[in-house]
Formats: sequence, C-alpha cells, structure tokens
Amino acid sequence: MNTPPICNYEGSDYQTSFWEKGGRAYEDAVEEKALKKLLPESGKLMLELGAGAGRNTPRYKNYKKIVLLDYSRTQLEQARQQLGDSERYVYVAADVYHLPFVSGLFDGATMIRTLHHMADARMALEQVADVLQSKAVFILEYANKHNLKAILRYALKKQTWDPNAPEPVEFAALNFDFHPQTVKSWLQSLGFHTEKLLTVSHFRMALLKKVFPTKMLAWMDSMAQLTSNWWQLTPSIFTRNRLKNAKPQAVDGTFFRCPQCGAELEDTPPLLKCSCGQTYPFEDGIYDFRLMKE
Ligand SMILES: C[S@@+](CC[C@H](N)C(=O)[O-])C[C@H]1O[C@@H](n2cnc3c(N)ncnc32)[C@H](O)[C@@H]1O
Repeated sequence: MNTPPICNYEGSDYQTSFWEKGGRAYEDAVEEKALKKLLPESGKLMLELGAGAGRNTPRYKNYKKIVLLDYSRTQLEQARQQLGDSERYVYVAADVYHLPFVSGLFDGATMIRTLHHMADARMALEQVADVLQSKAVFILEYANKHNLKAILRYALKKQTWDPNAPEPVEFAALNFDFHPQTVKSWLQSLGFHTEKLLTVSHFRMALLKKVFPTKMLAWMDSMAQLTSNWWQLTPSIFTRNRLKNAKPQAVDGTFFRCPQCGAELEDTPPLLKCSCGQTYPFEDGIYDFRLMKE
C-alpha cells in the first residue's frame, strides 16, 4: 500500500502549547458538549484514532476498554502519564493508514482533530471501516472548509481557494480542511450512515472568547447546534456514523495483525513477531507498530 505522508507530532508540546496555554478553553468545552451528545450509552471496545496526549479519552466513560492510537510515541507517553496503566487502556503507536488490528474488532471509534492531517482522507476512513464491527459507532470530527470566515474571505478576495469546491484544501503543509458534502460521500461509499451531525465552535473568535465567560459561550454554542441540519458553516463538524454493512466480527481472542503483511499476530510482549519477519516491540507500556520508512 502506498502510504501518504504523516504529520509527525514526535516531540511536540501540542497539548501544553495549543490546549493548556493556547487560550483554547472554549474549543475544549464545546467539544466536550458535542461528544456528550454523540457518544452511545455503552460500548465494549473503542479505538481512539490520533488520540494525542489523551485529552478526550476520559470522556469515553461508557466504554469498557479504549485503545489509544497515535503515530507519535511521545504523545502516547503523555497520555499514559495522565491515564496510567490499567486493563482499560491500550497504548498503540501506529499509522492510521496501516492499522495493526484484525478486521471487525471494535464496536466504537473516534477520530477528533486528526482527519485534518490526512493527505488521503478517504483511504484513512477505509482503514477505520475495516477494523469496525457491523453497527459500530464512529464519531468523526473534521475541519470544515465551507465555514463562514472562509466564505467571507473568499468573497472579499482575501483568500484564493474556493470554500464551495468539493476537494480538500491544504492550507498549510499536511493540514487539510474538507467540504461536508465530500466527507459525507466518502462515509456513504464506505458503508457508514451518518446518524447525527453537529456544527461546533460557532463562536471561535478571539474577541468573543475574551468578552464572554467560557461556560456561557460553550452553552451558546450548544444552543446554536440546534441549527446543525440547516446549514454547516462552523470551522469544526462532528458526526456520529454507524457502519451499516453486514460483515464478520473478529474471532474472539484475536486482536492484532501485522500492519506490513496483514497476518494475525499473537500478543507476546515484549516482542510481537510476524511470520513475514517483521517484529513489533512493546516497551514502557506502549506497543509500537510503526513501519519505519527508509
Ligand atoms: C491535532 S492532534 C489531535 C489530538 C487529539 N485527538 C486531540 O483532539 O487532542 C492530531 C494527532 O493525530 C496524530 N496523527 C497524525 N497523523 C497520524 C497518522 N497517520 N497516524 C496516526 N496518528 C496520526 C498526531 O500524532 C497527533 O497526535
């Protein structure tokens, strides 16, 4: 499989600089509210794709077990520091385009602020669909190119790319915004039915964030989400999708597969060995399935 480039967060202080010191309390609060509205009441095994430092993980309370997957080992180290080691969390360093799990394994998945970095977003979503069970719930957040600010900037000729055009826009290296219709068509073509869509971050403006207390602005955002089905003009969109295709469920007891050749792997820490010759270490609580590129 040809792998698109990866936006590498290794060694990044993203959690601290962007969330904790970056004035993003409003964005964090509205995402929490959106997730509350979208998460199912219960679930067994959830895959969090692009989990980062685990900012959202404690919000998946209703799932028995959560696999935090991220390409960056240092992000996962931060997540592990926060959440600790337990039966409930599995930390996996791997590439979304080469998922190291057997087909039909998970009954839930989330991907928040991560599609944003996918140069081939449909290919990434295809990998997600493969590891999900039939009727699994997939909560996907994506950055919306058809947002009010982009529409106004384009009208005033302050921006060259057209927010109405269906193709993704790479506004900075490996940072993409998507058109809602395009994401919808990808999801549909992969067998997902979008049950619910929420427009999120209606008031993402420095002045508003300064004037209004975070709680009030987040409440106003939650109210504004009532218009989600009429127009989608916010910079962020959350969707709850269900895989409607009938497909076989993973056999009990199976879990990992080799991201190189696809063969099922036995979970034999500290080293998982595949018959194709590839080996994958489990070190300091983190499985490492990254296929290093030359
Ligand atoms: C903007 S951060 C979001 C982190 C977290 N979801 C949050 O909302 O706080 C994007 C994350 O996606 C991860 N990522 C990017 N490309 C990836 C890939 N191809 N496979 C796995 N993770 C990837 C990055 O390492 C990073 O931690």
